[in-house]
Amino acid sequence: MKLAAAAAARIEVTGETKAEKLAALASIAEKSPEARALGTLRETMVFAVGNPEAQILFIGEAPGFEEERQQEPFVGPAGQKLTGILKAMGLERRDVYISNICKFRPAMEGNQGTSNRAPNDAEMASCLPYVLTEISIIQPKVIVALGGVACKGLGIGEGVMRLRGRFYDVQGIPTMVTYHPSYILREEKLAGGGIRAKRECWEDMMKVMEKAGMPINDKQRGYFQK
Ligand code: URA
Repeated sequence: MKLAAAAAARIEVTGETKAEKLAALASIAEKSPEARALGTLRETMVFAVGNPEAQILFIGEAPGFEEERQQEPFVGPAGQKLTGILKAMGLERRDVYISNICKFRPAMEGNQGTSNRAPNDAEMASCLPYVLTEISIIQPKVIVALGGVACKGLGIGEGVMRLRGRFYDVQGIPTMVTYHPSYILREEKLAGGGIRAKRECWEDMMKVMEKAGMPINDKQRGYFQK
């Protein structure tokens, strides 16, 4: 299935509460004939983590080595960075919902070890109906697309540098595009310590907080100001 076709597909789930519906969806996604038929994704599904009643939904790329091991999104180095961003927003991981555009770790030739790669279009398309159904169950106030891969998968476009900092419509929900935490980690290692990337990401997160109706205090407004 192509990304555009996958964007129209939704999964029927039963359940009274959002948590029940998400649990039903996760067990359907686990079987995911489309994803498994590709033969390019690994066995273990890593569905999502967080609060089904969350106002903010974060969407990344795909699980990596550590996420697959713990069967939880964003628990490796990028996850620690995301947890730090949440803390700056005054949030805990349990306050938000964290998912990925691809629910399985993309496989690599030979002994993969701890190496990871981004999902390709077919891999994203195979999981997109699950992600879009997740969004329609949770109905958050705001979605955050973390990085260019999630941005492409959600149909927003390509080029995170150009697209970041603004809201786009995904299923009627305002969706902010910002940097993937891995990009910030890479930038932090360069001269300048990644201050531009961190400041821009923080500006994006303040817009998200405003959209979600969260107060922003003076200390938060002052982060990354010179
Ligand atoms: N990067 C992602 O995009 N998702 C994860 O779950 C972990 C790292």
